[in-house]
Amino acid sequence: MRTMAGTRFVILTHCVASLFLLTVANGAIIRLNCDTVDDKCLLKNVFASEDDRFKEIRNERYQSIIEFFDCHIHTLPPIPYINKVKANAINLVRVEENTFSTIHRLDVSYNRLREISTKAFEYPEELLELNLNGNPTLKDFAFLSKLTGLRSLDMADMKLELELLDINTFAGMAELSTLNMSDNRITSIPVGMFAPLVGLTDLDLSRNSITKIASGTFAIATTHSYLRDGIYHQALNFDLSSNNVSIIENNAFLHASKVNLRNNKLIGIGQYAFDNQTALEHLDLSGNDQLKNFDFLHNLRALHYLDMSHMNFSFDGVPRNIFDDLDSLTTLDLSNNRILEIPIGIFAELQSLNFINLRHNSISHIEFGTFSMRKYDLIDEIDLSYNNIKELNFLVFVPLKYLKTLLLHGNKISYVNAKQLTRNKSLYNFGIQNSNVRCYDLIDLLGSLKLVLEPNEFISHLPNVDGIRCQP
Ligand SMILES: *[C@@H]1O[C@H](CO)[C@@H](O)[C@H](O)[C@H]1NC(C)=O
Ligand SMILES: *[C@@H]1O[C@H](CO)[C@@H](O)[C@H](O)[C@H]1NC(C)=O
Ligand SMILES: *[C@@H]1O[C@H](CO)[C@@H](O)[C@H](O)[C@H]1NC(C)=O
Ligand SMILES: *[C@@H]1O[C@H](CO)[C@@H](O)[C@H](O)[C@H]1NC(C)=O
Ligand SMILES: *[C@@H]1O[C@H](CO)[C@@H](O)[C@H](O)[C@H]1NC(C)=O
Repeated sequence: MRTMAGTRFVILTHCVASLFLLTVANGAIIRLNCDTVDDKCLLKNVFASEDDRFKEIRNERYQSIIEFFDCHIHTLPPIPYINKVKANAINLVRVEENTFSTIHRLDVSYNRLREISTKAFEYPEELLELNLNGNPTLKDFAFLSKLTGLRSLDMADMKLELELLDINTFAGMAELSTLNMSDNRITSIPVGMFAPLVGLTDLDLSRNSITKIASGTFAIATTHSYLRDGIYHQALNFDLSSNNVSIIENNAFLHASKVNLRNNKLIGIGQYAFDNQTALEHLDLSGNDQLKNFDFLHNLRALHYLDMSHMNFSFDGVPRNIFDDLDSLTTLDLSNNRILEIPIGIFAELQSLNFINLRHNSISHIEFGTFSMRKYDLIDEIDLSYNNIKELNFLVFVPLKYLKTLLLHGNKISYVNAKQLTRNKSLYNFGIQNSNVRCYDLIDLLGSLKLVLEPNEFISHLPNVDGIRCQP
């Protein structure tokens, strides 16, 4: 105690102007005066131990933000009527009863919080934003259930397990739009816990250890969804990337517009995992190299964007109709897989497809009709870079009326037939870096095409045309 008080005194001599100190029995009474900077009341260099007490903050110019800067405060002082308090990284341990009257935004991230009193807020329903990130020692979350006006709640990087939360914690939070629980220790999600969050737009559960998404887990009947053409549209993003999810059961999701499942351990996704009446628009499955059954894709009629890269995927044993019901799909990413052959007709029903990425596979042959569409032919970019193509009949691309970009970087192509390639006027960007093509052929292309480079790969020290290496 003696040494602590001594240290405190030394530090406080630097800022006597803004702080006033009275030594009492076991601690001090600290008076806090604002330094006014822009629209903030800045409280600098305040050091307060568990025993110290505060006089009320004097915010004489009624600034709307109180910010603690370079402070070390065990227990937050009583805060007068305010819009926002920024009290991050000040070694805060405790927020006790009656700390706040009216407050809208509170940032207490990256502290050492052990306790936030259930009576910390006089008007708890007025708090709109709360940032608790980086408080791994906080284990009692009873105070949360009263914060029924929250729009945004950050609880990332807290060593959090959902078992620590009462299942009814979110029961009153119909306004909550963003909930961030990334970088925690969540292994399972109690079914029903998130159901009351009917205003949700973003739920970030990335970088946890979730193993299964059980039926009903994300059954959230959002109030901002609307029905159009028999499908519910809404903005509701789930980030479940970098977890350990192996199974997603039927009816796991009700409303969802975007689901990120990148880098999990998926082995099974129920055919009705995503409600077939919801407009799921964006699905990222990349990095799940064990997934073999794709029947659930048949229920995703509104899907625009599908990432199936880095999945050890090939068309061996995959049903011919895998993509047949993806009527709205515009982007299909099949890059970094093990595709040797593309079955003719596999893309034929993708009537909205603009871009197909087949980069980094082992494709050696493209047949006539591989990219033909039955209904509309809207394909605008094909990326076949870094495959195993030695010879290519460039006429296979002629029927693609709207093909604007064709990338063939990093194949073993040694000959480009400019006449065939430029036969239709729509093709404009052509990529042929890291190949064995002749300079003569590239010159022939220059009149009608733009040769596109890979990023940062302009070759200048070898024979080249516009930075693209070629055989003289
Ligand atoms: C959640 O918090 C983490 C860590 O602060 C951040 O990187 C991430 O972008 C946040 N997610 C959302 C959806 O804001
Ligand atoms: C993921 O699950 C496997 C078992 O399926 C387990 O061995 C591993 O430790 C888990 N990893 C994490 C990060 O939870
Ligand atoms: C939607 O899914 C249900 C099962 O949850 C199924 O019975 C129904 O036939 C599906 N409807 C359509 C249009 O696919
Ligand atoms: C990829 O698939 C092949 C064939 O199914 C299999 O032999 C190989 O082990 C798989 N690789 C990984 C990393 O799962
Ligand atoms: C593509 O080329 C063929 C043959 O030259 C021609 O008949 C067809 O009209 C062209 N299509 C477009 C869209 O230019």
